[in-house]
Amino acid sequence: MILVTGGAGFIGANFVLDWLSNHDEPLINLDKLTYAGNLASLASLANNGRHIFVQGDIADGALVASLLEKYQPRAIVHFAAESHVDRSIHGPEAFLQTNIIGTFQLLQAARQFFATLSGQAAAQFRFLHVSTDEVYGSLAPDAPAFTEQHPYEPNSPYSASKAASDHLVRAWHHTYGLPVLTTNCSNNYGPLQFPEKLIPLMIHRGLMGEDLPVYGDGQNVRDWLYVGDHCTAIRRVLEKGTLGETYNIGGRAEMKNLDVVHTLCDLLDELRPKTKGASYRDQIRFVTDRPGHDRRYAIDSTRIATELEWKPSETFATGLRKTVQWYLDHEAWVDNVTSGAYRQWTQLNYQAREQDNQVEKK
Ligand code: NAD
Ligand code: DAU
Repeated sequence: MILVTGGAGFIGANFVLDWLSNHDEPLINLDKLTYAGNLASLASLANNGRHIFVQGDIADGALVASLLEKYQPRAIVHFAAESHVDRSIHGPEAFLQTNIIGTFQLLQAARQFFATLSGQAAAQFRFLHVSTDEVYGSLAPDAPAFTEQHPYEPNSPYSASKAASDHLVRAWHHTYGLPVLTTNCSNNYGPLQFPEKLIPLMIHRGLMGEDLPVYGDGQNVRDWLYVGDHCTAIRRVLEKGTLGETYNIGGRAEMKNLDVVHTLCDLLDELRPKTKGASYRDQIRFVTDRPGHDRRYAIDSTRIATELEWKPSETFATGLRKTVQWYLDHEAWVDNVTSGAYRQWTQLNYQAREQDNQVEKK
């Protein structure tokens, strides 16, 4: 038995589905079901007795302690977080509450539970903390990619809160001996991603005939990883990772945002053509930049590749095509998550930006 937090979100749900199709071992899925958590993503598990879903907050120490006592998991895989940078700019408090206080409460409960274990159960126990490359800050265009030794330089409320959680995890290992592992991953994309993040947002808005809002000059660079490859990497770190260590995970797929959006438009033109030869590229608009927008992220994943023999199986081209096709085939899922609350968010985030609209410079 393992305990997963945030298993109704994008990466967590992919991990839960992946785990239950590759293992006989059951899991408990603790998720608060914020706007980002969606049980429709787990609908295929409705009759699966190996999936125990609990709606609750990781910051509720008593709840977490009772789950640990009842189910005696051999590991905790911690995904739950507030995860969207733009939301952290509009409202940082929820990020401090869940990402810092929530992780703190989870660590405390894990530490108390770990103290009750002995022998094989104690030797096996793991707390795996899922984190991000954003804790390392922003790279110059020609700077080498982030290694695990790169200093922490978080620039957004989101990345600062994740950096704080990474430091807590490290401290609980060094001070209390909690057997922890940390992963720092680059930008994920794939099925089940909430359409507030760049790739599903562009697909959704493209299909709706809406503007495709590119922040600033569109030259910011992200390193893209297909979510299924992230799940494989986490499983590998859980099985073979060295306690107390961190592992960078990346897709070796650095792309400028505008190139990502162009590629998406071209895929949509092919897979869901518009009438009269029009292109989705016509919907692209440059809008006011994100405050404090990090220019470039890139991950050096040599360590996980050499020590744990992991590498991604999808290229950006194969992963993106699968992703676009998934969104085309799952319009009901998208309709379900783009409810009233979603519309309120897009109004808040994009209305002010629309005033600075420029059409795409060719
Ligand atoms: P997400 O926003 O899609 O999902 C987060 C999940 O956590 C949701 O199901 C939500 O309901 C749940 N949650 C939020 N607050 C909670 C709380 N207090 N208690 C219990 N559950 C709570 O996020 P994601 O994109 O799937 O990211 C998962 C993790 O991976 C996060 O820790 C994130 O920082 C990290 N990460 C994400 C990416 C990425 O590109 N998305 C890349 C690297 C690392
Ligand atoms: O690097 C890992 C991180 O990747 C994760 O830790 C975060 O949880 C995840 O949200 C993601 O953060 P980003 O800020 O990089 O992702 P986002 O999809 O929000 O934006 C990707 C890039 O696209 C970024 O440079 C901003 C730009 N962008 C984004 C949106 C939503 C736009 O140009 N227009 C948009 O409308």
